[in-house]
Amino acid sequence: MSTPVIVRTVEALRAHTRAWRAAGESIGVVPTMGALHDGHLSLARAARRDCARVITTIFVNPMQFNNPEDLLKYPHSEEADAALLATVPVDLIFAPAREEVYPDGFKTVVTVGGVSEPLEGRMRPGHFDGVATVVTKLFGMTMADRGYFGQKDWQQLQVVQRLVRDLNIPVQIIGCETIREADGLAMSSRNLRLTEAGRAKAGVLYAAITAAAEDIRAGQSDRMAIREAAEAIRAAGFERVEYIELRDAATLMPSDDPASPRRMLAAAWLDGVRLIDNIPV
Ligand code: PAJ
Repeated sequence: MSTPVIVRTVEALRAHTRAWRAAGESIGVVPTMGALHDGHLSLARAARRDCARVITTIFVNPMQFNNPEDLLKYPHSEEADAALLATVPVDLIFAPAREEVYPDGFKTVVTVGGVSEPLEGRMRPGHFDGVATVVTKLFGMTMADRGYFGQKDWQQLQVVQRLVRDLNIPVQIIGCETIREADGLAMSSRNLRLTEAGRAKAGVLYAAITAAAEDIRAGQSDRMAIREAAEAIRAAGFERVEYIELRDAATLMPSDDPASPRRMLAAAWLDGVRLIDNIPV
């Protein structure tokens, strides 16, 4: 186990990445907002397997929070995060201050059309502009060859894929499987905000969409299967099902074509916490 170096400025970061590139070493980047768990670490481990050098970025990006309260509530745990990243190990942690990423005069916004508009884009206006802008910046700052993202945030992964294609950004995007708790709940820093009773029910979200996907594959109508899933989630005690949708896996447009890859995506509220999940169909 070796302790990763922590750097705070783009200048210091570039000193490392320039030396690595000059030595012909490949660089993988794992963008995160900290409060790390096994889901994040699985991305860092995948990067460790593929790349000579691994950078994890920790930056709670204010531009992607459409709700200011969410930004204030976002957990910070840099010391614990660094200890976890040392177990992978990663080579470098880039943890810039807000002013380093958004200095005075900052005026550019990256907007990805199409895939960023439905679902999370509709529920969280401006969110994907913030994600696309900061990810573009992180790629430019780190000069990485590969970027690792979780399927947990499926729509975000598609937005980032579209972004690098459309802007010819020379970063290969790797989408990593969702890491789950024993009851199927996708790991997320938000899970810690659930009450004990809420946590005990939270696995129903994954169970219900899994059952719906199985029913659809077995020939049940999409609409009926989705309605049953929503009822099961509400019956378990979730306050609200925001959406459950069957979409084309890449464009996220509605799709009733079982022959093309499709994804079921869901968002629901439990204990005042917004949980999202998705699975292939
Ligand atoms: P954050 O929520 O910290 O997530 C960082 C990365 O970890 C994302 O790619 C996310 O999909 C992945 N991840 C989270 N939970 C996971 C799980 N249970 N299994 C697998 N992967 C998981 O997503 C963001 O930060 C930000 O939007 C960011 C991309 C860093 C831009 O600010």
